[in-house]
Amino acid sequence: MSWTPSSWRDFPILQVPEYKDAAQVKNVEEILAKKPPLVFAGEVQNLRSQLGGVANGEGFLLQGGDCAESFAEFSADMIRDSFKVFLQMAVVLTFGASMPVVKIGRVAGQFAKPRSSPLEVLDGVELPSYRGDMINGIGFNPNEREPDPERLLRVYEQSASTLNLLRAFAQGGLADLHAVHDWTTEFVSAGAQRYSELASRIDECLAFMNACGVNPSTSRALAETDFFTSHEALLLNYEEPLTRQDTITDEKGWYATSAHMIWIGDRTRQLEGAHVEYMRGISNPIGLKCGPSLEPNDLLRLIDQLNPENSPGRLTLIARMGANDVRAKLPPLLKAVKAHGASVVWCCDPMHGNTIKASSGYKTRRVEDVFKEVEGFFDAHDSEGTYPGGVHFEMTGQNVTECVGGVVEVTEEGLGDRYHTHCDPRLNAGQSLELAFLLADLMKRRRDASAKLKRAG
Ligand code: PEP
Ligand code: CO
Repeated sequence: MSWTPSSWRDFPILQVPEYKDAAQVKNVEEILAKKPPLVFAGEVQNLRSQLGGVANGEGFLLQGGDCAESFAEFSADMIRDSFKVFLQMAVVLTFGASMPVVKIGRVAGQFAKPRSSPLEVLDGVELPSYRGDMINGIGFNPNEREPDPERLLRVYEQSASTLNLLRAFAQGGLADLHAVHDWTTEFVSAGAQRYSELASRIDECLAFMNACGVNPSTSRALAETDFFTSHEALLLNYEEPLTRQDTITDEKGWYATSAHMIWIGDRTRQLEGAHVEYMRGISNPIGLKCGPSLEPNDLLRLIDQLNPENSPGRLTLIARMGANDVRAKLPPLLKAVKAHGASVVWCCDPMHGNTIKASSGYKTRRVEDVFKEVEGFFDAHDSEGTYPGGVHFEMTGQNVTECVGGVVEVTEEGLGDRYHTHCDPRLNAGQSLELAFLLADLMKRRRDASAKLKRAG
């Protein structure tokens, strides 16, 4: 069937707001259609080819950031701190896994949230749920909860300034490997000692390489990094006007230019639904969330629809099963995808299957559950002979108290101290670094096991 950027409109759609004023929505879409693209086809193709490497087992994907960006929590310092923690995680992994790490933020567009319930009840008052700053306001009053299409324009503007800063950080010196010691943020104590030792070893390596004639002036990779953006493509009337046909490279395909990668959420992955229809026609690398209710056969049909040419790097499957289910639910999917001969990146989201409610009422996650799901994910791949290609997580560079546990322990009683998220609980800077060390250890375990196998002959 023929595809256009607007063909999704003929399909049933879930999780989108009902706007009161259709003319106002149309007007906003027309304004967006005239805006410059946020990302460019060449960058998107670069990401797609890097992910192709990951699909072939030659790289690792690190994808993370806010659950929901917001208009209120927006500042250069916050973006910088998240970016620094991300760089620390990436360097820990690059060193531990001895392979390239593909870095993708949940940032510069991650503003719309699917919700389990359309309504929220508080003290007997019922209002529409908060769906992210792209749709309505978080304040519990009828005015704020009314969906407002003008918010799409504000999302575009904030995404543009965020991206501008991220590009400067990635290419303007902050990401220089010689600055590896400066990426620490003041409040990371967990993992800090281990990180500082690793940074010193990197310094030694850099000095050695410099003596051999390899330095930032001869190798760009030492001084800059590629940092990509991503979000859940929930609001297709934001995506559609930013979908552009490439005129510069030879490919001539259609690209979502709101971000380098976009993904389909676990609640909107219906084969005959609007989100799958939109995503099948764009040339970007895309993600598909795979929750515990996804059956192997349905996954294969989605794969055929979304990646009919079986191109490596096009499709990332983001498994989010929950710590208790991952060992039972993931292997049948791994087996089916392998038998189908489908080339995908398998990525683990250890967050969204592990959300619980603390007795105080805060939504939280236990760091130990997050780690347990990651371990279950690696073990499942070991037993199926498939490749654990990456992780997808919710984090911030701030010292928040949203997930319980960790080396510098956040307790249930302490959740209220610095609970700032607009949606789901995020790993704080220290907990994120702990996750990176866990991943590095698991990747090293794989490397040692395969070296042993090779030696055995
Ligand atoms: C998310 O990634 O924020 C999210 C809502 O995930 P999922 O679709 O997997 O529930
Ligand atoms: Co979330």
